[in-house]
Amino acid sequence: VLSACGGESDSASDSGMNLVSEGTLTVCSDVPYAPFEFEGEDGEYTGFDMDLVKEIATGMGLELAVQDVGFDGLQSGTSLAAGQCDLVASAMTITEERKKNLTFSDPYYDSLQSILVPEGSDITGIEDLAGKNLGVQQGTTGEAYARDNAPEANISSFPSDAELYPALQAGQVDAVLQDLPVNLGHTEEGAFTIAEEFETNESYGFAMAKDAPEELVSAVNEQLTELRDNGKYQEIYDKYFTE
Ligand code: ARG
Repeated sequence: VLSACGGESDSASDSGMNLVSEGTLTVCSDVPYAPFEFEGEDGEYTGFDMDLVKEIATGMGLELAVQDVGFDGLQSGTSLAAGQCDLVASAMTITEERKKNLTFSDPYYDSLQSILVPEGSDITGIEDLAGKNLGVQQGTTGEAYARDNAPEANISSFPSDAELYPALQAGQVDAVLQDLPVNLGHTEEGAFTIAEEFETNESYGFAMAKDAPEELVSAVNEQLTELRDNGKYQEIYDKYFTE
C-alpha cells in the first residue's frame, strides 16, 4: 500500500484489505456490456454491476473508482495480479477454470447464453451456424460455448463488444453468441432477434486476486448480503431487468 508518508496503512477503511489506492475501492470492468456496465448519458459508468459496486464501496466506507479494462485480461487474472484493481465487476461467470487464478465473491446474478441474428435471418438455431460467420467476445464463456458446440462455424473473437455488435450490424458476422441479457438489449430496436437460448447455468461473481486478503473478500460478501437483506439489491435489479 502506498501512502504519503510511506508508512503502513491501517486506516479504518483499509483494515487489512491492502487496497490499490487507500480509501478507494478500485474496480475494473470491460465496458460496454449493457445492462451490466455502460456509459450513461452523463459520461459516468452505470449499469447493474456499477450500481452494485457503488453500494458495496459506500457500505465499506470507501470511494469508488472504475477502470475500463479488456475482458480477456480480467478473466485470466492478469489485471488483478498486476495490481490494476481490487475487484472486477464485469458480468463475469464463476468457473472452475477461472478459480485457479481468481477469488470470486458469492454469486450475484444468474445468466444464460444465446444467439443473436438479424431479423429475417435463416439462422434459427445453433445447427444452422455451420459455415456461417459467428462473432464472440474473446475470453468469454460464450466463446468457449461456441467453440464446443458450434465447431463448424467460422468463429471470430472480438476483444470488445464495442467491435462485436458493429460487426453484426455491418454483416461481417452472421450471428453473435453472447450472454442472453446483453444480446437481448440489442433486440430493442427491432433489427436483431434471439435465434436460440442455452441454459448454461452461469452465475456471475465479483472477482478478486487469487491472493486477495480474506478481509476484502468477506467485506464484499457481507455487503452483498446486506444489499439483499435491505432491499437495495432488488431495487437495482428492477431498474435494469423488468419482465
Ligand atoms: N459472462 C461472460 C463470461 O464471464 C461474459 C462476460 C463479459 N463481460 C464484459 N463486461 N464484457 O465470460
